[in-house]
Amino acid sequence: MKKVKILDKEFEVSIPSDEIQDAIQKIADRMNVDFAGKEIIFLGILNGAFMFASDLFKKINVDCRITFLKLASYEGTRSTGTLKRLIGLNEDVSGATVVILEDIVDTGHTIVDIVKQLKGYEPKEIKVATMFLKPDVYDKDVKIDYIGMEIPNDFIVGYGLDYDGYGRNLADIYTLIK
Ligand code: IMP
Ligand code: MG
Repeated sequence: MKKVKILDKEFEVSIPSDEIQDAIQKIADRMNVDFAGKEIIFLGILNGAFMFASDLFKKINVDCRITFLKLASYEGTRSTGTLKRLIGLNEDVSGATVVILEDIVDTGHTIVDIVKQLKGYEPKEIKVATMFLKPDVYDKDVKIDYIGMEIPNDFIVGYGLDYDGYGRNLADIYTLIK
């Protein structure tokens, strides 16, 4: 089993890149049917989703646009901790189908937050696509319309996902060795 050491932790390969690409092709096949004739704008969520967005986008053959957003942490005035604000949406999405592209949905806090903020921009509809989903952890009501792969509740790196900023460049997915 291929292993990597990132900072203080060891990881071993769990999903090879060809399986990732096959899963993305399946999503693209569905989207190419579902999105025909619609005004589509993909929203890649930085940083993690950049590889997924890039590989998926190349497989889409309907007219569409893409842009990228970031969730910026800022200190709230309340003592309840960090809030995350969606930044970088300059595109006019009103009347369009926006398709959120996420690297991974874990508890779902992030996706719920993004969908909530996006509704303020009055798109026609919102669709959610994620490369990875941890179904044992996800317990929110937001429908995940397109799922690349369901994975166990383990920490992974690679394919855009990081451990403390490192490991995003790995083409395969690696799982933390406990
Ligand atoms: P959620 O809000 O709990 O759904 O977590 C979503 C965010 O946490 C993702 O966008 C990732 O940035 C990060 N995350 C969750 N699980 C993992 C993992 O296994 N590896 C790396 N990042 C993760
Ligand atoms: Mg992310």
